[in-house]
Amino acid sequence: MTDSVFVTRLIPDEGLDIIKRNFRTSVWSADMPPSSEEMVARAKRCSALVSLLSDKIDESVIGSLPKLRVIAQYAVGFDNIDVTTATKRGVIVTNTPGVLTETTADLAWALIMAASRRIAEADRYVRAGLWHVAWGPMLMLGIDIYSATLGIVGMGRIGAAVAQRAKGFGMRILYSDTQENDFTRSVEKETGAARTDFASLLRESDIITVHVPLTNETKNMIGAEEFASMKKGAVFVNTSRGAVVDENALVSALSSGRLHAAGLDVFATEPLPSTSPLLRLPNVVLVPHIGSASFATRSKMAVMCAENLVLALRGNRPPNIVNPEVLIHR
Ligand code: DGY
Repeated sequence: MTDSVFVTRLIPDEGLDIIKRNFRTSVWSADMPPSSEEMVARAKRCSALVSLLSDKIDESVIGSLPKLRVIAQYAVGFDNIDVTTATKRGVIVTNTPGVLTETTADLAWALIMAASRRIAEADRYVRAGLWHVAWGPMLMLGIDIYSATLGIVGMGRIGAAVAQRAKGFGMRILYSDTQENDFTRSVEKETGAARTDFASLLRESDIITVHVPLTNETKNMIGAEEFASMKKGAVFVNTSRGAVVDENALVSALSSGRLHAAGLDVFATEPLPSTSPLLRLPNVVLVPHIGSASFATRSKMAVMCAENLVLALRGNRPPNIVNPEVLIHR
């Protein structure tokens, strides 16, 4: 009998069609994600879930799905999934690395530029009818990107793609990472990025951009102390996960003028609550977690996610397995 799969949101047809061709497929078609109870009710008899980063797949959800063998995440980050419990229960977890690297690096750069040069603020100014003087010597002054020092926190695939783009701006590139390996060494060679410790990166960079996964170690890794040690007038960009940053400390650093500006794609709570003080700050550019949001990339993610799923459910090793140790006892 064919396996059943529950897909927790409509994903691009390129991937969904592959899943539908291979398995009995049920899709949650509402815009709002299913609650845990709704997910469990819909997936009770399913062998696999296609999940999004907004689905909390914790011990209780995994424990309530007795037939579950695969969780195919439609994202590179998988901090919403309790991978330890999945592994204990023999459930394969997959993700979609690589295909979204360049698109996410593009967005990090869009935020670097918009925050440094006050693009969103200037756009609001023009639309509000406030542009009365043709050219203002002191109007909307920002900070230079060209030849500035860029600090990249986390030199993984996306950090490296951000560094590649920085070459074109003649920047001095610093990075910090817990890993030192062939990959980081090759990025140093190609981009001229120099490895440094986290504290020096914070102290020396004009623009800081974060590219680490959310783990117990990275949670709140940038807080009041870290903002205080940044250069006065620095620009801060985050396209990784909101919980990496202490958002209250960020709000203080933006309101006090310690930071010139910030560009944020990710937040501690998503969607951003209407009570968030960030919404009242002029010097922050806010976008709704759209790092990978291009037509081409979302299609590639859907295909990769579907191919991982098909291979895993058919008993083969999927290329993007997050918990390979789960296969040892099979
Ligand atoms: C991811 O894939 O983890 C991004 O945050 C969303 O594309």
